[in-house]
Amino acid sequence: MVADWAQCFMATMALLKFYIVYAEYEICFNKSSRQITDEQRLFMVLMKDYDRNTRPVFNASHPVNVFMGITLTQIFDVDERNQVITTNIWLDQEWDDEKLTWDPVLYNGLEMLRIPCTNIWLPDIVLYNSADDYTHGYMEALSMVSNTGHVFWPPIVKLRSTCSLDITYFPFDDQVCKMKMGSWAYDGLQVDIFNRSNPVDLSNFVSNGEWELVNVKVVRNIVYYPCCSEPFPDVTFLIHIRRRTLYYTYNVIIPCIMLSILTLLGFWMRPDSGEKVTLGLTVLLAFSVFMLLIAENMPATSSFVPLIGIYLTTVMALTSLSVISAVVASNVNHRGSKETRLPTCFRTFVTFLSRIVCMRLVYIKRENPQEVRAVKMQVAMRDGYTGLKSTFSNDSGCNLIDYENGEPAQMRSISTNRRPQVERSWELEEILRKLQVLISKEEEREKVDIILKEWMEAAEVIDRFMFWIFVFWTFFATIFILLFMPMTKSVET
Ligand SMILES: *[C@@H]1O[C@H](CO)[C@@H](O)[C@H](O)[C@H]1NC(C)=O
Repeated sequence: MVADWAQCFMATMALLKFYIVYAEYEICFNKSSRQITDEQRLFMVLMKDYDRNTRPVFNASHPVNVFMGITLTQIFDVDERNQVITTNIWLDQEWDDEKLTWDPVLYNGLEMLRIPCTNIWLPDIVLYNSADDYTHGYMEALSMVSNTGHVFWPPIVKLRSTCSLDITYFPFDDQVCKMKMGSWAYDGLQVDIFNRSNPVDLSNFVSNGEWELVNVKVVRNIVYYPCCSEPFPDVTFLIHIRRRTLYYTYNVIIPCIMLSILTLLGFWMRPDSGEKVTLGLTVLLAFSVFMLLIAENMPATSSFVPLIGIYLTTVMALTSLSVISAVVASNVNHRGSKETRLPTCFRTFVTFLSRIVCMRLVYIKRENPQEVRAVKMQVAMRDGYTGLKSTFSNDSGCNLIDYENGEPAQMRSISTNRRPQVERSWELEEILRKLQVLISKEEEREKVDIILKEWMEAAEVIDRFMFWIFVFWTFFATIFILLFMPMTKSVET
């Protein structure tokens, strides 16, 4: 009895189990069932014997034609040091999958189905010149499949690609960065790659503060590797960008030009002032700060010397030379204290320089310094006698010396003077002797003074000449390096 019951129970259970399986089958495959959507049904039919690991062509001798294009949304970063450009792009890929076709009439006019990309075959498109490791794949975007078997799959990717940056014209440089995309494992006979009819979409591009996007070009290449006879096609995107120069103009170039002007200003300081050298050294120090600033951003390469580096080196060299010139001028200026006159060749040289810079020489010009001295002497003597005269006239009203011609030789007796003649002549002789001493001393002083002034004038002429030389070179270097040289660059895109 118990066994019967058990048997009956078992039979009922088996029946129930069969019914459940049947019901599941009904739900899954009965078209009229309300429990299943059209898309679900289509997806089930499409995936029924689909293998995502093999190419979706029935005849294996046919290639899968993949059409590629990009939508460039942003240039994230251009890393000059590591030569890497980071971009944000939508990688638009299209191909025909011969197994994903259906008749839309059977699915209430459903012509387009979104399928997770993990369920279907995907071309193994990689960026050949990637700077990243390949451990993480693409974003798992849905693929859009139409009833003709056309698949469109646009994952968003952030690509770090290597880009050989030529910084010769920095900061006036243009760069062309390549992005080579192609199938990694399939050859051109299995997966062929073409560019789309509209290969680059820039409608969503967000502009970059440092770089301006000039142009994007697409080129399809076919490469034959030495290993195999099959062609390997790829699509290369050439992104042409231009650096915005405003930042560097404000932060480097204008301060450098100001510092160059300060260097020039140093020449207007008196040659005997030590401040000339101090100013030159301070400017040199400031330039080296800018040099460091530039060097920080540049790749540590010897293949290129950036234009701004050449400019900085030039102005630094000019400043160093200005310090040397200041030392020379200061030395010449102090030479006079040795009480030796200007050597003849040096005198000729300075006279020549003074003609170039249109300076009027006062002391050096006269070949014979006696001439100057004579003029000076006359003035001095006249002053001396005037002094003497006033002394005597204050004393007792006697008028001893006739200074009309500047000659002290004449003495005459004055009726108002009551002293004896002899005594008077002795006194006069004494005065004359003292005068002689005074005059010779004055003469000596004048001589030294003239030598000092000659050397000082020579220093002044040298300084002025160097000033004009430096004005010329500073302007020439600035205009040539910062204006003409950037014009010579040629960028092929
Ligand atoms: C496969 O394609 C090749 C080339 O198009 C063609 O010659 C061949 O007949 C095709 N095979 C079949 C079975 O259709």
